Amino acid sequence: MSILITNIKELIQVEEKPQRMVAGKAMSVLKTIKNAWLQIEGDRIKDFGTMPVPVSVMHHVSPVTTVIDASGKMVFPSFCDSHTHLVYAGSREIEYIDKIKGLSYEEIARRGGGIVNSAKRLHDATEEELVEQALSRLNEIMKMGTGAVEIKSGYGLNVQDELKMLRVIRSLQTLSPLKIVATFLGAHAVPAGYKDRQHEFVDMVITEMIPQVASDELADYIDVFCDRGFFTVLETDRILNAGLKYGLRAKIHANELDYSGGIQVGVKYNALSVDHLEYTGDEEIKCLLGSDTMPTVLPGAAFFLEMNYAPVRKMINAGLPVAMASDFNPGSSPSGNMQFVLSMACIKYRMFPEEAINAVTINSAYAMGLSDEYGSIARGKIANVFITKPIPTYSFMPYAYGSNKAEQIILNGNLVCG
Ligand code: NIG
Ligand code: FE
Repeated sequence: MSILITNIKELIQVEEKPQRMVAGKAMSVLKTIKNAWLQIEGDRIKDFGTMPVPVSVMHHVSPVTTVIDASGKMVFPSFCDSHTHLVYAGSREIEYIDKIKGLSYEEIARRGGGIVNSAKRLHDATEEELVEQALSRLNEIMKMGTGAVEIKSGYGLNVQDELKMLRVIRSLQTLSPLKIVATFLGAHAVPAGYKDRQHEFVDMVITEMIPQVASDELADYIDVFCDRGFFTVLETDRILNAGLKYGLRAKIHANELDYSGGIQVGVKYNALSVDHLEYTGDEEIKCLLGSDTMPTVLPGAAFFLEMNYAPVRKMINAGLPVAMASDFNPGSSPSGNMQFVLSMACIKYRMFPEEAINAVTINSAYAMGLSDEYGSIARGKIANVFITKPIPTYSFMPYAYGSNKAEQIILNGNLVCG
């Protein structure tokens, strides 16, 4: 199986020397090749360059090679969506109406809505139903250019249902052509029965959930919703410490609702990423500088819940890297459209298109521990790319918000769509 794409108007996010991620000023550098070709062999990117295609490459063209003429079109590396909760049952538009009436996310949660509501629905759904619903979401985001995605548990809130969610994610890994990593989020919310004994729930996460998740090898990472009204820094510390003992590195929800100390405890445990970050001040920025933790911003949630926007410009100016992800979930961001994330990155966070594209490709690949193999067009990386519709410039991607600019999708070296 091989693919040769010719006459590419512009090949985007090309790396001669692959980097793990880009930070600060380097975020505004986006390497591209105009009038390019791209050769894919098996599931890998073999080579690329400026047209015409060299004779040596043409020699490899055989009757089984798919040759695609991309005149007027661009080729991007697939988007990496490093934070989603896309395994869930049903939807929560009823709460959306409450939100329009003026109730906050926390008020809705206090009335038994929110995460606890999704937990009830998940409990009642079979694994087959959950797989079917999630597959259709994966299909939808694939068509919009996503090629790798992180999926969290967290709507279980008890041992059995958390394991059920993680088994669903494992099924998706075999059924979907997308690269999927799994994160265990046992401490997502406190279930109703544990309201006055939150510490007992935390004990259950530590002594029952983590050991089982680890022994069944159901997760790559561990998450905690460390924020006002959810889990404290101390509880997060205990859970991350327990996770680490089982080889689960942290990727946590932090500083969405307050200066919660989540960023600091994440960095303390060398988290791969800390996510949300609406409440990020000088102290948090200082703490992140020099760490290996990727600050990850979720524009969909800030938009949908009408929150403050994370101070991304300040973070980049301070020298930090920034990744962006969709947070696809039924409560705070019912969309996994990474092209819309790109648009919001530019409009709401004043990122330049180059910075935004870096945030949703190489930096978000890093935030899943995948940047060695995904997130850019580099020789030897997995061939996850998409060919756009004819577009005038790469800035058109964030500019023309709302429409799908991806036309043909290649995953693992196979043309899966278009
Ligand atoms: O990332 N903040 C916590 N968890 C999700 C929301 C989950 C839900 O409301 O169902 C988030 O926004
Ligand atoms: Fe989230």
